[in-house]
Amino acid sequence: MMAGVSNVTVAADLLAVALDVALEAGALLLEGQRRERVVAATKTSATDLVTEVDQAAEALVADRLAQRRPGDGLVGEEGGATESTTGVVWVVDPIDGTTNYFYGYPGFCVSVAAELNGRPVAAVVHDPQRGDTFLASLGGGAFLRNMLGERRLELPATGGPLEESLVGTGFGYGAERRKVQGAILAGVLARVRDIRRGGSAALDLCSVAAGRLDAYYERGLNHWDHAGGILIAEEAGAAVTTLEGGPPTADRTIVAARADLMEPVLALLRQAGAGGPMA
Ligand code: IPD
Repeated sequence: MMAGVSNVTVAADLLAVALDVALEAGALLLEGQRRERVVAATKTSATDLVTEVDQAAEALVADRLAQRRPGDGLVGEEGGATESTTGVVWVVDPIDGTTNYFYGYPGFCVSVAAELNGRPVAAVVHDPQRGDTFLASLGGGAFLRNMLGERRLELPATGGPLEESLVGTGFGYGAERRKVQGAILAGVLARVRDIRRGGSAALDLCSVAAGRLDAYYERGLNHWDHAGGILIAEEAGAAVTTLEGGPPTADRTIVAARADLMEPVLALLRQAGAGGPMA
């Protein structure tokens, strides 16, 4: 970082870049919805799709970031990897919610997060179909822009009990892991208002930030799935942790919730059998 330039200024600059890039990639995603979706590859299982638009959107984001921020690193879901010489690394999911995208089912987004020395400092999660753009910078708050205008996301510290909570979750792509996740879900479902499986972890985390979900949990997320959404949820005042403790690595369960719900949700997940050996 240049002498005399504060972290807040750096985060604001990175956020401006993230916003431009995410909006441009979002337009590409929407354009792709007008055409037949073409599967370019599968990844961890036959159900884990990569469309041509995933690849095109990541290429676009990588190109724009290289132009605007030469020297920054990149980690992208579709294999993009560039070393950083500046301390800034961009963590990019060109389409989070690829299954939704493939079917034309609502709930997909592009997630662009900037990490400075390993810590997310700016993030944009943009859902071009619904027209929701979530943005946050470290210490600068979280915001939602959509057809209703722009509003700061600020969660109340307290609210209804666990039994009246709407809880989001998601599943991995492997059959064995899904069996375990389904069994845990059965224990959770009986104790809450209802469950949502939105199909995009980044949007699920933003839904907690916006109060559209009271809590969200999922085990096995990749870095690009959660880098942007966690910053947005935290900046909105949500509590974010892992059930197993420690940072949100791919073997842990990320839990995001309104602050007063975090302990009840963690207790419920443990009772339901979460946090055991990973399938
Ligand atoms: C997936 C979505 C989904 C979550 C999966 C992720 P992708 O990401 O975020 O909601 O349940 O664990 O892999 O494959 O659509 O980028």
